[in-house]
Amino acid sequence: MILIKGSRIVDPAAGTDKTGDILIKDGKIARIAENIEPGTEEVRVIDGTGLITAPGFIDVHVHFRDPGLTYKEDIQTGAAAAKRGGYTTVVCMANTRPAVDSPETVRYVLEEGKKTGIHVLPAAAVTKGLQGQEMTDMEALKEAGAVGFTDDGIPLMDGSLVKKAMEEAKRLRLPLSFHEEDPAFIRNNGINHGKVSEQLGIYGSPSVAEDSLVARDCMIALDTGAAVDIQHISSAGAVEMVRAAKRMGANVWAEVTPHHLTLTEDAVLRYGTLAKMNPPLRTEKDRKALIQGLKDGTIDMIATDHAPHSREEKEKPLTEAPSGIIGLETALPLALEALVRTGELTMVQLMEKMSLNPARLYHLEKGSLEEGADADLVVFDADREWTADQYASKSSNSPFTGWKLKGKVIYTICEGNVVYEEV
Ligand code: DOR
Ligand code: ZN
Repeated sequence: MILIKGSRIVDPAAGTDKTGDILIKDGKIARIAENIEPGTEEVRVIDGTGLITAPGFIDVHVHFRDPGLTYKEDIQTGAAAAKRGGYTTVVCMANTRPAVDSPETVRYVLEEGKKTGIHVLPAAAVTKGLQGQEMTDMEALKEAGAVGFTDDGIPLMDGSLVKKAMEEAKRLRLPLSFHEEDPAFIRNNGINHGKVSEQLGIYGSPSVAEDSLVARDCMIALDTGAAVDIQHISSAGAVEMVRAAKRMGANVWAEVTPHHLTLTEDAVLRYGTLAKMNPPLRTEKDRKALIQGLKDGTIDMIATDHAPHSREEKEKPLTEAPSGIIGLETALPLALEALVRTGELTMVQLMEKMSLNPARLYHLEKGSLEEGADADLVVFDADREWTADQYASKSSNSPFTGWKLKGKVIYTICEGNVVYEEV
C-alpha cells in the first residue's frame, strides 16, 4: 500500500484540482480524501507536500526501435526513459526492423513490454513492410494485441488504400495514426522550407506538404467515420484543416510534440541535426497556431515522437542525418513552460492532453483518478529546476541537452508499483 499525503491532486477526468491524500491498494486507487491516516496495515507514506499527483502520462507516439534497431533504443531503455518522464503507457510505432506488420512482431513487442513495469502497447503497420502498397491483415494484428495502425515515418500516398484502411480500422474499432507529409513537395526533409532553409542554401520541406495530406485524410476520415490521429501536427494550415474537419463531424484527433511547441526553424541554425525532425520545426506563426489549437480543443494530445538516433547518425551533415529527437524525459517541463506558466492552459487541461485524451483515443480506462481506477500515477514537482544532461534513453539526440528545465517527475507509479523514483 502507498499513501501519498498532501499533494495537489489534478484529475482531468473529473476536472478537479485540489489538495488531499491518495491511498493505493492492490494496484488501484483505493481512496481519495482530504485526510487519510496510515492505519495499522503496512503502508509506504509519500510526503506529497508541494507536489502534484496526476494520472500517469500516456504517449501515443514513441519509437523504441525494437526489434532490429536496438543500437538506438530497445524496449527496456525506451521504457526507462518513459518512466523517468512520468509515463505509464506508451504506444510504439511500427517502423522497426522488421516492421510491426505480423502477429509475431506484435506479440514480441507486447512480451518485451511486459518486463518493463509500464504498459508498452504496439501499433501495427497499415501496409506490409511500410511499403505503402499492400494492406496488412489488420484483424489478425488486432487479435495479436495491436492497439492501432500506423506507417509513421512514411506518409501513405495511395488515397484509395487510405480509405480501405480507414474502413477496416473502423470495423475493428481501432484508431489509425498518420504521418502527413507529401514527398512531392519536399526536397530535403526535416527542415522547414523558409528563411532558414534559404540561408542554408537548401530547399527543405514546405508546410503545403503537410497541409495537403492533412486535408485529404480529414476528408477521408469524414467519409469513413474512422478514428484518425493526425500525428505531430506542425503547421498553422494543418491545424485549421483539423479544426474544420472536427466542425464537420469527422472523428479526427491531433497530437503535437513538446518541441514543436517550444522551438521554431531558427533552432536548426543553433542545434543543427538535433533540430532536424519530420515534420520540421516551422515558424513562430505556426507555433502560436499550435498553442491556439490546444486551447480551443482542435489539438487533443501532447505526444513526444520520441525518436532515438545514435551519435554517429546525428553527426552526419544536415541533409544526410536522420530526422527525429528523443522526447520522453523532457516533455513535462517543456509543456509546463510553453503552456501552463504562460497561462495558455490550466494544469487540469495539460493533464487532459497528456493523459486523459490519449486514453480516450485508445479506449483505455485510464487518465482518471477516481476511486477504483488503476493506480497509474505521476507525482511531480512543477517548480523543481534541473538540467537535462544525461538520459535513461540509449540515445541523447536532443536540442534540450544543457537546458535548465523547470518541472521534475519525482515518482512514477504504475499499477500501484513505484517504477521510477527521483533520488
Ligand atoms: O522525425 C521523425 N523521426 N519523424 C518521424 O515521423 C519518424 C521518426 C523516426 O522514426 O526517427
Ligand atoms: Zn511521424
